[in-house]
Amino acid sequence: MRIPSGLPYAAALLAAGAALAQPAAIPHLEKRGDATQLVVDGRPFLMLGGELTNSASSSLDYLAPYWPKLAAANLNTVLAAVSWELMEPEPGRFDFSLVDGMIREARRNRLRLIFLWFGSWKNGVSSYTPLWVKRDSRQFPLFLAENGVTLTYLSVFQDANWKADARAFAALMRHIREVDGETHTVVMMQVENEVGCPGGTRDHSPAGEAAFNSPVPKQLLDYMVKHREALIPEFRQQWESAGSKTTGTWPDVFGKEPIANEIFMAWNYAVYVDKVAAAGKAEYALPMFVNVALGERIGQYSSGGALPIVLNVWQQGAPHIDLVAPDIYLPNFAEWCARYNRSGNPLWIPETRTDAANAFYAIGKHAAMGISPFAIERAADASTPYAKAYDTLAQAAPAILEAQAKGAIGAVMLNADNPAQALKLGNYTLHFAIGRMRRPPAAAAGAAQASGESYAIAIATGPDDYVILGNGIQVTFTASNPGPSPAAIGALEEGVYVEGNWVPGRRLNGDDIMLDYNAQNHAVKNESGQGLRLVGDAPRILRVKLYQY
Ligand code: DGJ
Repeated sequence: MRIPSGLPYAAALLAAGAALAQPAAIPHLEKRGDATQLVVDGRPFLMLGGELTNSASSSLDYLAPYWPKLAAANLNTVLAAVSWELMEPEPGRFDFSLVDGMIREARRNRLRLIFLWFGSWKNGVSSYTPLWVKRDSRQFPLFLAENGVTLTYLSVFQDANWKADARAFAALMRHIREVDGETHTVVMMQVENEVGCPGGTRDHSPAGEAAFNSPVPKQLLDYMVKHREALIPEFRQQWESAGSKTTGTWPDVFGKEPIANEIFMAWNYAVYVDKVAAAGKAEYALPMFVNVALGERIGQYSSGGALPIVLNVWQQGAPHIDLVAPDIYLPNFAEWCARYNRSGNPLWIPETRTDAANAFYAIGKHAAMGISPFAIERAADASTPYAKAYDTLAQAAPAILEAQAKGAIGAVMLNADNPAQALKLGNYTLHFAIGRMRRPPAAAAGAAQASGESYAIAIATGPDDYVILGNGIQVTFTASNPGPSPAAIGALEEGVYVEGNWVPGRRLNGDDIMLDYNAQNHAVKNESGQGLRLVGDAPRILRVKLYQY
């Protein structure tokens, strides 16, 4: 991100969003046209994030050298754990020194923060609870497995557990309001981390058994009846295959274990997490989300986590949670984006890998609010491809955010299995293909450019105008109306955005415009004739004006 060093903190940060607006409201989610966006200081904000490793934020000294590197790697948002055990070492005695230190360093380095509340559970296990909670399982009862073994997971069925967690989380939110209520360094909160219990099972404690054999709450059933057609199909199918009952216990309504277990635990985790979130929001109502460990089959993932099949259950059980966010490490990234960008759930990816193609795709195809690779301090280096990708996204962020709201944006991600794709956007269809060098060396003739990644975001900025950013890709065009007809490039320029304003570089023509011809017979292969290429060491931004002939 090109941020003039003299800019004040807030204005500099907003180079990724736009100029500062007055007065500064609390960061919040806003539906803008087709998209739900995070609004910070009155402007939509695209989170170019990164999540620290779990223990990094337990030591300010450990973190100290990383802050400038994170900023230099073009991040604008850092996700950092706040651990309950370190924040409330004795009941009711709070220590916010780590929180304050992170806020201070984030501001100094012009970064925003998202805190991850490692409270009752971190990946299902209660390893971040204070020792005074861990030691007192009478007061803070634990999860009982089917085989009679007690696990070190707080039980969701005990009021004492959520109350202690909610009290601590409320204290954290109160403190953030006191120290950051004006400056808005902290923009969102994650409540707990990847909740869920071993796949396919449930808490068999006496309270858990009683709840399982109690009626499914009317609130959930009423919702299911009223919104039957709009339910997540796999959830609806489960309900229907068990007889579409509108009253009954969990096994009555959802059929046999383990799926009934999973839905039952999802509801109960959601209700618990909601009470924690509500207590925090009563102090300072930042947007809040839960993250999810993914898997294709029960057993691969935990029972009760907000997997797609129980997305509706979580939405009903946890109204204070603004969105459910998938941690996408699995290879079928595009599919997971689609599975979570439905039922009114906006996409935000708090954990993933450093993959530029994925970042462009989520933001351009699904209007994602942002993306955040895990273990970012290990990868925070300005020279990495990912840092360069963030630079491009940061430059184009105002245009991207505007286009997300207008529905004037699309994205493609190509590979050997999917080497070409058409995208209808505005008045034209954009025909993307894996980018090839203009004159490949003889040995590599016809081979795709070496980058291995082919991706682009396209933005329609006017009836004949597009901004295209990406790498490893080439595009030709056809006009869509009145029917498919040839189109060509009227003007093409490269350039950069500086604080949201386009600064043109070279005007590209001649050899720098692609003619999609077959070298064997000099015939134009594609009726769209001309196209452009984005192939190089780093993603670039091009502006193109088309015409029909
Ligand atoms: C997912 C968890 O949410 C993170 O906290 C971290 O443990 C990663 N897995 C490790 O890959």
